[in-house]
Amino acid sequence: MTHRPNGMHRDFLAIPDFSAQELGELFQLADTMRRGQYTEHPLAGKSLAMIFMKSSTRTRVSFEVGTWHLGGHALFLSPRDIQLGRGEPIADTARVLSRYVDGIMIRTFAHAEVEELAKYADVPVINGLTDLLHPCQVLADLLTVRQHLGGWAGKRVAWIGDGNNMANSWINAAYRLGFELRLACPEGYDPDAKILARAQTTAVVKIVRDVAEAVDGADVVNTDVWASMGQEEEQERRMRAFAGFTVTSKLMAKAKRDAIFLHCLPAHRGEEVAADVIDGPQSRVWDEAENRLHVQKAVMAILMAGNKQG
Ligand code: CP
Ligand code: NVA
Repeated sequence: MTHRPNGMHRDFLAIPDFSAQELGELFQLADTMRRGQYTEHPLAGKSLAMIFMKSSTRTRVSFEVGTWHLGGHALFLSPRDIQLGRGEPIADTARVLSRYVDGIMIRTFAHAEVEELAKYADVPVINGLTDLLHPCQVLADLLTVRQHLGGWAGKRVAWIGDGNNMANSWINAAYRLGFELRLACPEGYDPDAKILARAQTTAVVKIVRDVAEAVDGADVVNTDVWASMGQEEEQERRMRAFAGFTVTSKLMAKAKRDAIFLHCLPAHRGEEVAADVIDGPQSRVWDEAENRLHVQKAVMAILMAGNKQG
């Protein structure tokens, strides 16, 4: 078979890769999927390669099961099994995989590696988490906000803790969708300065040092682990730096009465979040995890099969 590079393909490396209108259409499609009203198989005969350079429960299972729901097939590729783990260049991996599969999902360390993969691949590339961004998770978080609060227009979102890949993706979401975002981060753990500056051109996005100031009147309270994958040896230093940044029920009481609590998981109860918050009535973390499946199916249907959005 002659190889025909698909020059028209689109990648999903960051939330702003979709316009606000496209995001609205994507969430509509994901909602249809969540309600069980989508019966098409747009990935029939298609395959997704999933490269995991870091561990995963949710991302791996939701992409694999989601591909199958849409009629396709997913391959789990870990560095122990593929030559990328032995130093084969990412560009060569991209060129080769493009001859076999119809889409590539990758979870890795440096964001530049995902950009390199996308540059050399002839098929859509989806970012399944880098040290900089976790866009699929924040799509699922937004779908959860839509599910429980009806949307984000006029809403205030609080981020408590590390200015990490999740925080950066929430800032990108505020940039595209224009809601108010307050991030409480300890000094030295701020989000990416460029991503923040860009968002501040279209939305009210503030960094504060006081957790109560961030949560005051919030509709959504969000946190994540203090040491992300790859930062395990910093755990002790981070435990000291993040003292006082735990989301407790006392802190939640400063948010709106009907505020929801989100966490991308995995969580460390007693560190970034108290058990009675994550396991309490305001927590929507299980819906949030489920929404990974629906929103990623919508992303794949749109990018890999040209599904009309909406
Ligand atoms: N939230 C999330 O991405 O979870 P996994 O690391 O289990 O994929
Ligand atoms: N910030 C976390 C998210 C895990 C889903 C990490 O990168 O490890």
